[in-house]
Amino acid sequence: MEYKRGQWASNFGFVMAAVGSAVGLGNIWGFPYKMGMTGGFAFLVIYLALVVLVGVVVMLGELAIGRKTGKGVMGAYLSFSKKYAWMGFIGLLAGFLILSFYSVLGGMVMRYMLGYLLQLFGVDGFAGQGTGFFGFMLYDYGGILFCYLVFMALTMLIVMGGVEKGIEKFSSVAMPALFFILLFVIIYVACQPGAIDGYKFMFSPDFSVFSDPEIGFFEVFKTAAGQMFFSLSLGMGCMMTYGSYLSKQENLQKNALIIPLADTIIALLAGMAVMPACAAFNVEYTKGPGLLFVSMQTVFENMGSFGNFVGFMFYFLVFIAALTSSISILEVVTTFQIDHAISKGKTPDRKKISCIYSVLIFVVGLPVALDALGSGGAFMKAPYEMLGIAYKGPGFAMWNDCWLDLYDLISEGVLMPVGAFIMSVLIGWVWKIDVVKDECEAGGKKFAAKKYYAFCFKYVVPVVMAIIFYAQLMDFFG
Ligand code: PFF
Repeated sequence: MEYKRGQWASNFGFVMAAVGSAVGLGNIWGFPYKMGMTGGFAFLVIYLALVVLVGVVVMLGELAIGRKTGKGVMGAYLSFSKKYAWMGFIGLLAGFLILSFYSVLGGMVMRYMLGYLLQLFGVDGFAGQGTGFFGFMLYDYGGILFCYLVFMALTMLIVMGGVEKGIEKFSSVAMPALFFILLFVIIYVACQPGAIDGYKFMFSPDFSVFSDPEIGFFEVFKTAAGQMFFSLSLGMGCMMTYGSYLSKQENLQKNALIIPLADTIIALLAGMAVMPACAAFNVEYTKGPGLLFVSMQTVFENMGSFGNFVGFMFYFLVFIAALTSSISILEVVTTFQIDHAISKGKTPDRKKISCIYSVLIFVVGLPVALDALGSGGAFMKAPYEMLGIAYKGPGFAMWNDCWLDLYDLISEGVLMPVGAFIMSVLIGWVWKIDVVKDECEAGGKKFAAKKYYAFCFKYVVPVVMAIIFYAQLMDFFG
């Protein structure tokens, strides 16, 4: 019997899955905290410009390559030529690294969600630690491993269900739910006195960060660009993989606009939940990654008894967001192996494949779970201690102080931009836009903005990538 590779049952289902992939910790955590650290409005303007000039373009490119070849990232590049196999490897490696740290974080979110759930029933959900729970949790290895394991197992179970019955079904329910919970949190927060300062930080024009000697334009630009790639799930073949399961009937150009638009709206909405909440309860939002756990927990603590309910809803929403993203990353490697088996004339076993990869990725993520995120004195040494590299000290250029940062630097900082750069050069210069044109015009549709896309693939995307690399190098050696 011939193996059926699967297909999204509807365009709505595809959009929910793709938006589910895009909307994740990047939106609800990364976006507000990076915006908080790099000047609010200035970050926002650069971010939006990058979505229009780069995000939408790379999105269309990935979807087109995926649908044209009907294969995931490795198979897709191999369909063009054997010499592009390493492009496939870039995607797979990025997927491995991202999912390993992503699931550790997903597990932590789940732990907070459960903590608030317990509190709703009058049980202390945070082990008597209150707002100090985060610091406690980092060294509670049993707890952290358990949550990491459960989160990974949930990811695996959904992917085992397949594209249509697993990923699409789950995302079609989870994403609308996420949206309504987010609205609830935003409205509740908006009613708190003092919330207005959070909106001001986000939306009142202020570019003073560019002249801040500690930060400056390049830092803001680089942060916004990395965030944009990560948030839109671009540069590692995730959208290529999802595109490979899309029917030729569907309008690719429209989808390539809807996904970034929805992702950007949710990032903005998340900012509008988190920043004003911190502002209303006098909690710092410019101090970085602690925002999702430490700051937000303090916010819910200060809300009084209703805080347990709002806290539960908030972490439930982040949990859904993280899960719909983690499944998309596991699907990248699962699809790779499925395509590989098919190309060898074998019948792939999706369940077995996703199980094996989940285990492998879990192992790769262990250092992230066990190094207390670089807080020192942990079971697992930080990379700089193990490799004997000089520690650069706290601040922006931290890259080797914990395993998460190292994995993140390799994937989000290097592999994803490289992947997107080369893909754009291939599309713009080698394949002369034909791949994208064919897919956009499939079924007699019109490729409306062809000139714009051609220009961006050829010039804008490569130039933006070059700037990111320059900024990255300055960070390293500067
Ligand atoms: N876009 C996700 C987020 O914003 O959290 C993360 C992500 C998912 C990155 C899928 C890469 C990917 F392939």
